[in-house]
Amino acid sequence: MGLAACGKSGNDHTAAAKSETAAPVQAAAVAESAEGLSLENWPALKPALPRDEKLEARIADLLSRMTLEEKVGQMMQAEIKSITPEEVKQYHIGSILNGGGTFPNNDKFATPDDWRKLADAYFAASMDTSDGGVAIPIIWGSDAVHGHNNVIGATLFPHNIGLGAARDPELIRRIGEATAREVAVTGVDWTFAPTIAVVRDDRWGRTFESYSEDPDIVAAYAREMIKGIQGDKNSEEFLDGRHLVSAAKHFVGDGGTTRGIDRGDTEVSEKELAEIHAAGYFTALESGVQSVMASFNSWNGKRLHGHKYLLTDVLKNRLGFDGFVVGDWNGHRFVEGCTVDSCAAAVNAGLDMFMITSEWKALLKNTIAQVRNGEIPESRIDDAVSRILRVKIRAGLFERDRPLAGKTGIMGSEEHRAIAREAVRKSLVLLKNNDQLLPVDARKNILVTGNGADSIAKQSGGWTISWQGTGNTAEDFPGATSIYTGIKQAVDAAGGTVVLSENGEVPQDAFGKGGKPDVAIVVYGEDPYAEWHGDLASIEYQLGSKEDQELLQKLQAQDIPVVSVFLSGRPLWVNKELNLSDAFVAAWLPGSEGAGVADVLLTDSEGNKRYDFTGRLSFSWPELVHQTVINRDDANYQPLFAYGYGLDYSSDAQLANNLNEDGESYVDGNLEDAWLMVSRPQAPWKLFIADGDQEPLWVSGNLARSDDNNITVASIDMLSQEDARALTWKGLRAGSVVLETRKPQDLSRYLDEGAALTMDIRVDQAPEAAVFAQITCEGPECNGKLPLQNALNALPKGDWSQVSIDLQCFADAGTDFTRVSQGLSLHSEGKLAMAVANIKFVPGAGDQAQIRCGS
Ligand code: BGC
Ligand code: BGC
Repeated sequence: MGLAACGKSGNDHTAAAKSETAAPVQAAAVAESAEGLSLENWPALKPALPRDEKLEARIADLLSRMTLEEKVGQMMQAEIKSITPEEVKQYHIGSILNGGGTFPNNDKFATPDDWRKLADAYFAASMDTSDGGVAIPIIWGSDAVHGHNNVIGATLFPHNIGLGAARDPELIRRIGEATAREVAVTGVDWTFAPTIAVVRDDRWGRTFESYSEDPDIVAAYAREMIKGIQGDKNSEEFLDGRHLVSAAKHFVGDGGTTRGIDRGDTEVSEKELAEIHAAGYFTALESGVQSVMASFNSWNGKRLHGHKYLLTDVLKNRLGFDGFVVGDWNGHRFVEGCTVDSCAAAVNAGLDMFMITSEWKALLKNTIAQVRNGEIPESRIDDAVSRILRVKIRAGLFERDRPLAGKTGIMGSEEHRAIAREAVRKSLVLLKNNDQLLPVDARKNILVTGNGADSIAKQSGGWTISWQGTGNTAEDFPGATSIYTGIKQAVDAAGGTVVLSENGEVPQDAFGKGGKPDVAIVVYGEDPYAEWHGDLASIEYQLGSKEDQELLQKLQAQDIPVVSVFLSGRPLWVNKELNLSDAFVAAWLPGSEGAGVADVLLTDSEGNKRYDFTGRLSFSWPELVHQTVINRDDANYQPLFAYGYGLDYSSDAQLANNLNEDGESYVDGNLEDAWLMVSRPQAPWKLFIADGDQEPLWVSGNLARSDDNNITVASIDMLSQEDARALTWKGLRAGSVVLETRKPQDLSRYLDEGAALTMDIRVDQAPEAAVFAQITCEGPECNGKLPLQNALNALPKGDWSQVSIDLQCFADAGTDFTRVSQGLSLHSEGKLAMAVANIKFVPGAGDQAQIRCGS
């Protein structure tokens, strides 16, 4: 569909692909075609900007004066925590970035001027030739993915999933433009945006960074977002310093990984890769995007950072991309044969700039050596550096024309906040409005409740000041408005009464003597998360659901009509919450302008609606808890709310309050593996240390230790970055490492379908005393406990092996699988050092399990 979709917007790539001759195919591509690859799957595009001989001559001149060290230096992008301006000068480094949650001087409250001053210092260092060398301006990149979100005081736009619902490409362009302006104020040159992933499995923790499951929307938005950020390529505004360099990311297939696992493998045909996952790149290129970020994921087992066919033959040759390819955060290290500080294969595949973050010195040295010994042809280096220089020249970095730098009034300006507020209004999708409860008459008594009601942190989600969006409080959002504050403004203006009560208790006479709320607006949903941490095992909304459901029930019991405002980064299975709500609004992650919610939900002082709902789902909403991969063009498409759904005030549609609440009963025999832990525990499972009779210790970061360091849990690398956990028992006390859930899970289907518990284990120091694997359920005497010591002793020391245990063994030992609270607990009574990864229940694998039990 994707290619045809582009055709609709007046650019028929399908036809182009057939009629024009393909770009010259290099020898390696021919070799790869033996694997069945074909450039015919991709449209043959012309470079977005015509070749500029003057510019090319300038590049050639610079290149001819640069040493190999200087050239390779251009290909390094270091993180500001790991490089000083002095080092930029000394090593001729080409680029820097600030990762999510990195600030100038390590100061979260660094002002826009602090940012600019630091940018000036790096720039001056890059242009300082007092030690010799050619002056090449540095380029600084930052993740301005929903506004300039690393900087306190910036306007925060709704995350992409909400923008997708707005169906308004022109608005997207204005958002891109406003974002670029705020970035420009801080002296940063380049934003790592937009993400143009087309998501298939909504469990992916980056679903909220995607505009849609639909390639049409992604394609239309990519075109406009890049025009907004960079300026129109056919006008004077293009890269004029008010408009900056954009990066389309992550090339390619990031939204298609199996089970929605971040940095995973996208197992699809080349046709599907091109038509679905690459749809946004064709339009991004057409708008003249100057950089493309390679993706962490693999395509059919091969990492993108080392994929010559996709990076060079497809992107650069076939699609005519003349800008540069930047890597993702140390992403080259996953390429076969590479380490973080040595990766000729990525350069040879077509990577032009390494996002190397901290180990840049070693990588620089090794890459230079690889050119000298012929592993990397110098022509490849010249090509990479030419591309980087081309973008730097086009962006005017040599002239350092920065018309907005230091104009701090632009940060979080009223004008930009108004655009964000408009985007919030347009992003809201009305899923249920029984008896036309909405709009709420702002002259009445209104209770505002739920833990998202007055939390700008929660309404902003991940990639907000910190990387995961965690750890923020109200003080971190000067100038922003919570959803409650917006409601209060509207109610105050109309003469009604509003009470905020997070837990729903109404203080006596808060609504006047004997008064009671006419309606409750309940704001709740997912807490902030970002890449990797946000992956889910199930799309059931459950992390906060117990409390939220109780709150909804409490209101219902008092006959108070309920409007649910659901904050989430993806569609989730919320049948129970829907049944408990009279009206239900999908509000996504609206960002700093919470008042946009009240604009639509509440009337004016005459009781008339102010704005209607115009948002329509850009992702299909599941009816069944196992509908994790549910997309508009599926063969058996049976969502609860289809792609494109969304009510407005003219509709009197009723949704019965009898949606099936038994998530499990729907499963149709195609039982998927149940993952308890991939690289991280999969929600709802969380990792705890239960040491002796100490309070359980939640493992949230990559290292946790109980008292006296008796038990340690540390993230380690198995195949890729931090994809396994090392567990160490010192043996001071018996204790356990546990995967636990607050809400017991019914996993009886796994028992019924003969599943095995499987996990990868590496024993580093053999157990000195008894070890047990347990699956525990809620309630007394509900603990299936199996000895594991002999099995661990039998494993080869220091090597990974898979261990599998028939679930029946746990059932025989006493686990009731209808109410599992601890999916796995590893208990050791003595010293032990081991590592674990990939813990899951695999249906049908019980028969072949290494540890089996009769019955
Ligand atoms: C993310 C990118 C981001 C980069 C720099 C990576 O982990 O995948 O989207 O641009 O970090 O922060
Ligand atoms: C992210 C960065 C972040 C870093 C923290 C990376 O994967 O992309 O933005 O700062 O991890 O470790």
